[in-house]
Amino acid sequence: MWYTLTLEARDGSRHDIRYNPHTSEIEGIELGLIDEREWPTALRVSKATPLGKSRAPKVLKIQLGLSCNYSCSYCSQAHQIGDATLSKLTDVEAFLANLDSWLEGAPERIELWGGEPFIYWAKLKRLIPALAERFASARFLIITNGSLFDREKLDLITQYDIDIGLSHDGPGQDLRGPDPLENPEQRRWIEALLAERRGHVSINTVLTAQNHDLAAIKAWFHARLGLDVPLSLEGVVNVYDAATLLGPGRFDEAGLHALRRSVFESHVTAPQAFGLDKRLRDFLSSLKTRRPISALGQKCGIDRPEHIAVDLQGNVMTCQNTGAKGEHKIGHVDEFDAIALNTATHFAFRPECISCPVVQLCKGSCMFLEGELFAQSCANEFAFNMGILMAAVWHLTGMIVVQIQPS
Ligand SMILES: C[S@@+](CC[C@H](N)C(=O)[O-])C[C@H]1O[C@@H](n2cnc3c(N)ncnc32)[C@H](O)[C@@H]1O
Ligand code: SF4
Ligand code: SF4
Repeated sequence: MWYTLTLEARDGSRHDIRYNPHTSEIEGIELGLIDEREWPTALRVSKATPLGKSRAPKVLKIQLGLSCNYSCSYCSQAHQIGDATLSKLTDVEAFLANLDSWLEGAPERIELWGGEPFIYWAKLKRLIPALAERFASARFLIITNGSLFDREKLDLITQYDIDIGLSHDGPGQDLRGPDPLENPEQRRWIEALLAERRGHVSINTVLTAQNHDLAAIKAWFHARLGLDVPLSLEGVVNVYDAATLLGPGRFDEAGLHALRRSVFESHVTAPQAFGLDKRLRDFLSSLKTRRPISALGQKCGIDRPEHIAVDLQGNVMTCQNTGAKGEHKIGHVDEFDAIALNTATHFAFRPECISCPVVQLCKGSCMFLEGELFAQSCANEFAFNMGILMAAVWHLTGMIVVQIQPS
């Protein structure tokens, strides 16, 4: 499937190039040596073709529960809270004791998930040392709203070399709730974490309808935390419920335009900011290596059999953001061979993704969203990823994409 991209140069002249997102071929731009590879074909999940899970997961996501001390207006988990299992400290012991019955080898990464994970402090304190002893080479990751740190928690983070993603929306934080940087005690611990765990912490912002000016977000953090604050992006908001659809998840046409422009300009003026250069490099590498669409799994990775999300009772869920008491329970570790991811749709089964020029960047948005919720999430992802595509073309040609159409 080919697209013609019309580019405009500084002098106003226009030039056409062609791009095929299915084969990652590009015509009209000299890329130098092409390093074409043999790409393995990604598995494609659908309700009609469910996937199982591997007993030797590379990524083990442990969901402690979906309770949280915040109630962010766009929270992807809000619609699932009633479906989350409640667990006791004794469930941690049972979980650890049962591990050998289903898990083979050692995960490369272990993620501890809430809700807000530090609400589950007693469980974390028991789980992490036990898992670290068992899987000495595994890296740990915790994503947190950053409001519950103290000395004891920082010490555990350091002792077990845990990577931390701190979710904060900068000038758009009011959509999430209280600002921990406005609370002297909470701010002190965030500053201590940033100082003590340099290279192992990132501050991750979700771009929303009200907050997607990357230059303003960067300036906001620089003013409060200094110029070397490790900023990153969680990405653009995806839409999981009606309130988000009417509020922070709803970009109108002007908002989508502003989002695309902001992502483009930030990539062009400061590619290192927000880790945007990684997204850019991934796209440029897809062109250089001719990555076919058949090699792509979903962006989140949890469609792969070797990524698994479990709760402390051994339930297996679609992903860490879902609860095991409802439709997103896809099995139990005690009946491992019966686990069936039958709640998700790989983008290859979505006609809009198969004919999408930014599919190599987006990789299909959230795999379990449907209907209006998927449509708005897709519109948001399209604008976000078009900004990256435009920036890649600008870096390669010095010209701006002004039109893109099937050819
Ligand atoms: C659901 S939270 C759970 C962890 C923790 N409570 C936190 O906020 O960091 C995990 C991540 O998802 C992000 N997030 C929440 N809702 C989202 C949405 N609708 N779209 C995109 N990201 C979202 C949060 O900002 C956070 O970075
Ligand atoms: S995004 Fe995180 S902090 Fe906000 S309500 Fe959801 S789980 Fe809590
Ligand atoms: S932008 Fe929309 S259509 Fe394109 S790959 Fe993402 S979800 Fe699919």
